[in-house]
Amino acid sequence: MSSNREHFSSRLGFILAAAGSAVGIGNLVGFPVSATKNGGGAFLIIYALFVAFVCLPVMMAEMAMGRKAQKDPYGAYRKLSGKSKRWSIAGLLGVITPFMIAVFYMVITVWIFGYLFQTTMGNLDLLASPEHFGAFINNTSVFWYMVIVAVIVNLILVGGVKEGIEKASKVLMPALFVLLISLVAYVLTLDNAMAGVRFYVVPDFSKLDASVLNGALSQAFFSLSLGMGILMTYASYISKDDNIVSGAKMVAITDSLVAFIAGLMVLPAIFSFNPDTNPAELSDSSVSMIFVYLPKLLLALQADIGYVGASVVAGIFFLLVFFAAITSLVSIVEVPTATLIEEAKLSRKKALTVLAIATGALTVLCTMSFGMVDWLTKMTAYGGADKSMFDVVYDIFYDTILPLNGLLVCLFVMYKWKKVRLSEELAQGCDDYVGSWVEKYVNFSLSTFIPVILLVIFINTVATKFFATSLFGF
Ligand code: TRP
Repeated sequence: MSSNREHFSSRLGFILAAAGSAVGIGNLVGFPVSATKNGGGAFLIIYALFVAFVCLPVMMAEMAMGRKAQKDPYGAYRKLSGKSKRWSIAGLLGVITPFMIAVFYMVITVWIFGYLFQTTMGNLDLLASPEHFGAFINNTSVFWYMVIVAVIVNLILVGGVKEGIEKASKVLMPALFVLLISLVAYVLTLDNAMAGVRFYVVPDFSKLDASVLNGALSQAFFSLSLGMGILMTYASYISKDDNIVSGAKMVAITDSLVAFIAGLMVLPAIFSFNPDTNPAELSDSSVSMIFVYLPKLLLALQADIGYVGASVVAGIFFLLVFFAAITSLVSIVEVPTATLIEEAKLSRKKALTVLAIATGALTVLCTMSFGMVDWLTKMTAYGGADKSMFDVVYDIFYDTILPLNGLLVCLFVMYKWKKVRLSEELAQGCDDYVGSWVEKYVNFSLSTFIPVILLVIFINTVATKFFATSLFGF
């Protein structure tokens, strides 16, 4: 059985693929902006603590489940629980969630690709005009971009684990670092750049309240690809002598480092563009930052380096975001792909075809829910506002179900699969694990406060999203 399962060819391949999954659009823009708005360095410190003390144990647990079972999330829950019906439902959630996240992430990646394409065609001035984004997302050209993105993702995935995912990550991740560092180096030379850096790193502890803490933790959790079944699936492709404990640390460090460095690109750029920026007024949404605010800023660089120069910088920026998005998209589609291959016994090609049709149809519907089709645009209303199909998918799967999935992982690993088995699995490839303080901490935290925290986040998200009220007050 598991002997003919495909595996990553190296530990580095696995780490790059998992880090590629974790590094996404949110790292590059969402993280820096919310750090700046919520206490700068104080937020950064809290975020790092959350990554190390709350997210890492969950990450290790997910990876341990995947490697032990050598299966997709659905198969892993079933195999490790002795086919328990109740835990099969958790497994099902572990596959439906990534499937639906793939849909909403595809929509955004398609827009990124569109902006990248338009920039290379010399249309940066168009992208920077205020009405452009609204018109762009309702223009039928998005369907062409969608076809191209779908082809790229499927070309990577059809290659399988080694020849597809691993190879792509080994090219895209180093390229991403180079693009990011070159943009940081350029942006830091702009006037007023240091004002941005100051806002980003100087701590303001007075901003830290319960809702900022909740935000920081949810962000850390999502950013690391937790609760999405991805790490479980990717870890099912590594060998028994690989060290999960250090692998998980590397993934967490890479993801956080990219997010941190992205701040050294975004904040200086914002403050050089407008030295009087009030951080509190920056948009919380990565989407409006990337598609509305940043194009204006990128175009303004023409005063310095000319239109072509500004277009080159913009092109590098959109390429960077596109690479980050593609590796995340590939990882999230791999989860249902693995499930169809293993549970429905389809070939990889057939599985990808089925998914291309299913996610394709839903993505088209979501794409049309920004005004093209009325009933999709105003699909429903909750939390005091009209919601489009895109909003519904985002709110339910990205915001609400993820912490629930994380909670289920903790409960499953601690109380069904049991601590000894987790320790046994983590000790494979990490000889000094048993008896170490890491083991004690992982077992203690996963069985006590981490599930409680995830439960609180889950309840609070349901309250804020769907009932327009919050556990923490506004
Ligand atoms: N860090 C990602 C982002 O910033 C969030 C994420 C992690 C993600 N894993 C993912 C998104 C997989 C989509 C698919 O966007």
